[in-house]
Amino acid sequence: MIKNRSARGHFFFEPTNLKKKICFATNNPNKLSEVQQMLEGEYEVLSLKSIGCEEELPENQETLEGNSLEKAQYVFDKYQISVFADDTGLEVSGLNGRPGVYSAMYAGPHRSDEDNMSKVLDELATQSDRAAKFRTIITLINSIETVQFEGTVEGTITETPSGEQGFGYDPIFIPVGFNETFAQMSCHEKNQISHRKRAVQKLVNFLKSDS
Ligand code: IMP
Repeated sequence: MIKNRSARGHFFFEPTNLKKKICFATNNPNKLSEVQQMLEGEYEVLSLKSIGCEEELPENQETLEGNSLEKAQYVFDKYQISVFADDTGLEVSGLNGRPGVYSAMYAGPHRSDEDNMSKVLDELATQSDRAAKFRTIITLINSIETVQFEGTVEGTITETPSGEQGFGYDPIFIPVGFNETFAQMSCHEKNQISHRKRAVQKLVNFLKSDS
């Protein structure tokens, strides 16, 4: 708010930025700009860096729900700002839901997408059930409530990787209703149907109805 003087000499407050602030507990610029666009005009969406959070967030839980809650709670408690955090995993039916919450480092702590995909393909070699889904959980925490939103996309795991787009397990995942992998789709096409987009859309609908 800026204090200004009117023509008659009265002071009035000029609204400069009435948008509510909310932190997205990520430093991934692609995720951030996607949500910023969806909430444009209603919320100012801040990255971790912009609230002064440079440290790695804790992710010590054994479920996507637990990890996204842990990350959001850490930021809320330490920085006292409304916040949401996401966590995503690939759940393969024939592998009892693995890699799931361990998707990022399934083949080890070096986080190589190629090694992670190879491990899934090797483990599936003797399985006939190749059904899988990506699942994203977003946890929102503000001063009055904690709410979780889920987004999923079902599909199958291919026998070999195909495509150059995307990241992570995209080259081995074909969503239901398509005959190409996520990595063969344009970024725009994938983002229309992705697990993350579906979870973000639920969050955005909630925030818009709440504001
Ligand atoms: P995060 O929770 O978004 O960091 O995702 C954890 C891990 O899941 C990533 O390191 C990837 O291996 C995998 N992953 C998440 N989202 C996607 C996706 O859209 N496509 C492929 N792999 C993904």
